Amino acid sequence: MSDRLDISFVSLATESEPVAAALAADALQFGPKARELDSKSAGALAKAAAAADYKGKFKSTIEILAPAKIAIDRLILAGVGKTETLTPQQLIDLGGVIVAQIQARKCSAASVIVDLEAAGELKGDEAAALIAQGAMLRHYNFKKYLTKKNSDESASAEKDGLKKLVFHVAHPDKAKAAFVPLKAVVNGVNVARDLVNEPANILGPVELAEKTKALEKLGVEVEILDVKDMEKLGMGSLLCVGQGSARPSRLAVMVWSGAKGNKKQKPVCFVGKGVVFDTGGISIKPAAGMEDMKGDMGGSAAVIGVMHALAERKANVNAVGLIGCVENMPSGKAVRPGDIVTSMSGQTIEVINTDAEGRLVLADVLWYAQEKFKPKLVIDLATLTGAIMIALGKEYAGMFVNDDKLSDELLSASKATGEKVWRMPLDKAFDKMMDSKNADMKNTGGRWGGAASAAAFLQRFIQKDVPWAHIDLAGTAMDGARTDTNQSWGAGWGVRLLDRFVAEHHEK
Ligand code: BES
Ligand code: MN
Ligand code: ZN
Repeated sequence: MSDRLDISFVSLATESEPVAAALAADALQFGPKARELDSKSAGALAKAAAAADYKGKFKSTIEILAPAKIAIDRLILAGVGKTETLTPQQLIDLGGVIVAQIQARKCSAASVIVDLEAAGELKGDEAAALIAQGAMLRHYNFKKYLTKKNSDESASAEKDGLKKLVFHVAHPDKAKAAFVPLKAVVNGVNVARDLVNEPANILGPVELAEKTKALEKLGVEVEILDVKDMEKLGMGSLLCVGQGSARPSRLAVMVWSGAKGNKKQKPVCFVGKGVVFDTGGISIKPAAGMEDMKGDMGGSAAVIGVMHALAERKANVNAVGLIGCVENMPSGKAVRPGDIVTSMSGQTIEVINTDAEGRLVLADVLWYAQEKFKPKLVIDLATLTGAIMIALGKEYAGMFVNDDKLSDELLSASKATGEKVWRMPLDKAFDKMMDSKNADMKNTGGRWGGAASAAAFLQRFIQKDVPWAHIDLAGTAMDGARTDTNQSWGAGWGVRLLDRFVAEHHEK
């Protein structure tokens, strides 16, 4: 687990920690508390700002050292720009910026003074809760295997010393209440980050599946299917991927029944690719960069993370998360190119390339999800293709959807959270590329449009009239673009997107 950051909310009158951040809006406008600090210190804030030509532009900062007559040694001013147009996401980002500034000051505790009366459409206390959420997201790191982190020589040890952030606000109780669901989402994101960052020797398929058990204490029902169970269900497609590994495959199912008044409400289903390590199998990958394939379970990490968030914030929805946990290894028992397997749907698949394993896993998990839960909609998340990174880089995940309403809902959640998705095509022409002479289909479609032919393959396992989205997060789940709120290799990408998608469109 990452180092914890303890966040609390106190009144504006409470004495500050020696290191503090306060806000300044455009044209150097201060709120009541910053004004008070400025006048008590004989105008030290305004004077320092003028000397640095600092105006309070969004995300800009300056530091004022040892201002006279106030009990703050280092005061960081953080710019909010135009308060009237501030969006929730901007406040979250600002929280990240503030924590980075504080961490650079090497202290274990600090104050953040949020004396805004309003920010955009939000009240000041809600704004403080969002800043706190951004702070918590930014603070995450994965240092559990750095055994020397407490030695004096280690610069990173000092940087990670921040343990406690105190938010000074007008109405602490209101801010605290607003922070509860926001913190649940951060916890979900951090669960996903931890899983993606964890190496595959520690996190095998059995261990990944077992991680879902931690959700039981939040009220999630968990069921784990082993190889025998999956054999009985006829999951020849999923099982062939794991057959070369010494570590057995698992399918974990998480059920959150949170819909108030309507326990029978059809669930939304989230399906995750959980390849704990992808060597490529017999179609083995080149050595360079192969270590990154410990992150090939980023889709299932996001599914576990969003289930955590929904359950911790007691979301008013029925949701099911399903993750196919396997390891793709070459061995004397491994699936070969040319092998033909039978999926749970009954459709046969000729395995042309054992490195196109993610779709083989998803084929059976998608089918099982629909058979067992008759869902309202299905969204799968998978680090499925290198091709999606060629198309969209590390900023955007690719989204393939068979339903315009579902597409709009996801795009709107994407816009709100800054977890960017771009709609990609589903097309008969891509589907045709998956035809095989020897079986109902093959698992690779040729050189061009690799992300789209992979999606077309998955669509063959979507039943009639089921709204479905496939999100290819190969570029964003691991080693994605670093942001104000994420500095981790494993980004926990997708948790905030899906949580928001549920909150905006499926909780009424
Ligand atoms: N896990 C990979 C995709 C991937 C690559 C994710 C790089 C993240 C970073 C997937 O299983 C894979 O190997 N896909 C192949 C498919 C091909 C064999 C049709 C690919 O993209 O090369
Ligand atoms: Mn692969
Ligand atoms: Zn893979």
